[in-house]
Amino acid sequence: MAEKETIGKILFSERDIQKRAKELGKQISRDYKGEELIVVGTLKGAVLWMADLLKNLELDTAIDFVSASSYGSGTMTSGVVKISKDVSLDIYGKNVLIVEDIIDTGTTLKYLVRHFQDRNPKSVTICTMLDKPSRRREDLKADYIGFEVEDLFVIGYGLDYDQKYRNLPYISYLEPNDI
Ligand code: IMP
Ligand code: MG
Repeated sequence: MAEKETIGKILFSERDIQKRAKELGKQISRDYKGEELIVVGTLKGAVLWMADLLKNLELDTAIDFVSASSYGSGTMTSGVVKISKDVSLDIYGKNVLIVEDIIDTGTTLKYLVRHFQDRNPKSVTICTMLDKPSRRREDLKADYIGFEVEDLFVIGYGLDYDQKYRNLPYISYLEPNDI
């Protein structure tokens, strides 16, 4: 393994991402017109994207967070999902929108959707910043997708590699030889 990873080119700029958050925010606002929405962000990766999205929702919203992971450190999934922080709001009878950074194998979200559905919400939908469909192992589709990415290990705008790079104001990727 290299001393330090090499960051590739910019896949999506801050401007691209914010423009897309605006488009999806408008769409979600139309879809939930007259309804209340609990927006649940997945810690830690979704926080930047969630903030952009929230600013574009013209709805009565409440926000909450959940922390679930199927990853250890590095880039390989363990397949086991652990919830280390659950939502604090009561979601019974409510519309829940899960805001995720990236859907890879789908393991984490499949588990989370089931976890929330057990509490009988009115609805559960998913808005993900990135979708990596080529790696999917579960039958899972997001309702709202920012961008599709190929099979690269992406970083930035909330996404990390061993907790680094979350603060980059754009989405890039690590050169495959370095990880
Ligand atoms: P899944 O359960 O395999 O869908 O993995 C979902 C989680 O793995 C995401 O929420 C991310 O935290 C992490 N993840 C998956 N792919 C990447 C990537 O390319 N870069 C950074 N994190 C990733
Ligand atoms: Mg995540």
